Amino acid sequence: MPHSHKPLALVTGGAGFIGSQLVEALLTAGWHVVVIDNLSSGKRKFVHPAAAFIKQDIASPKVSEWILRMKPKAVFHLAAQISVNTSIKEPIRDAETNVMASLGLIDAASRAGVERFVFASSGGALANEQYLPTKETDPVEPLSPYAIAKYTIERYGAFYREQYGLPFVSMRFANVYGPRQNPEGEAGVISIFASRMLMNETLQVNGTGKQTRDFVFVEDVVGAIMSVIAKPGLTGTFNVGTGKETDIATLYKKMAKITCYRKKAKKGPADKNAPMRSVLNASHLHQVTGWKPKVKIDDGLRQTIIWFEANWKPKKGVMAALRCFL
Ligand SMILES: NC(=O)c1ccc[n+]([C@@H]2O[C@H](COP(=O)([O-])OP(=O)(O)OC[C@H]3O[C@@H](n4cnc5c(N)ncnc54)[C@H](O)[C@@H]3O)[C@@H](O)[C@H]2O)c1
Repeated sequence: MPHSHKPLALVTGGAGFIGSQLVEALLTAGWHVVVIDNLSSGKRKFVHPAAAFIKQDIASPKVSEWILRMKPKAVFHLAAQISVNTSIKEPIRDAETNVMASLGLIDAASRAGVERFVFASSGGALANEQYLPTKETDPVEPLSPYAIAKYTIERYGAFYREQYGLPFVSMRFANVYGPRQNPEGEAGVISIFASRMLMNETLQVNGTGKQTRDFVFVEDVVGAIMSVIAKPGLTGTFNVGTGKETDIATLYKKMAKITCYRKKAKKGPADKNAPMRSVLNASHLHQVTGWKPKVKIDDGLRQTIIWFEANWKPKKGVMAALRCFL
């Protein structure tokens, strides 16, 4: 580790979609950044070369040892098993990362005197459809093991804050989208639509297409995290969303227009485990840090599609050169 007067940040999951873009913002803001990631879904090439990289599973005791030895000023904990379906099929495997390893990080951070612990929680997974747009103070309804784990870690964080003074912040992201989101997983409908439309494949829309989500651009999410960091000592739980709902059929139309895609969607069965509507109220974060989302959905979709067009290599098949939007 080089000797420097720069503050040291640890980013778990820093090779992932959101984490790798947070790393870049932290480097720009003058932090020395260390990434710990097991590359299960992240990519080494997404990690900025100015950041140090340790390939390690967060469940390893070496990670706690590292935190106790290096005493980072801030820990940004984004590493997670992110598939809700996997959490339903394999709750124990999910809990090994999303509960036990996460708790291990919090415990080590607390013992090391870390000045800020930021946890990537999920507004969508915890939201109760009876309260829309959902506020942080509304009753939560964690229905999947993924959501139960997110809520459990929020509560452990609150415990460490009360008991040991760890400055713990939970950030409940809405549906994040943008460049680098993995279209092979189940998580990002926008990355799935972008990659398939660019390959001119037929897409499936589940249910009526009237389901709504609060789509927030990754750059705005990184901005929200940075706004929290700019307030020393801030703790608590903060929604990160736009407050706007977009339904899947409208999303499909907007993306089809940008990519010149003309195929009609196949109808799939409705997903019983997913809510019909989801939207977050992020006015708490706005009041406390002044953060507001800046990127409108049409601009964010365009940026995302341009990124996929230039950077995404499908495992099978070829990209159709649908460049009408350029
Ligand atoms: N993308 C969203 O819409 C969204 C919404 C709410 C919350 N979140 C949360 O934000 C965080 C980042 O998600 P993302 O969308 O960037 O996903 P991602 O899969 O791109 O990033 C997760 C990263 O963690 C790494 N990782 C996974 N398990 C690990 C382990 N055991 N040890 C070390 N590294 C491990 C992966 O390799 C990957 O680089 C996650 O905690 C996720 O639950 C994301």
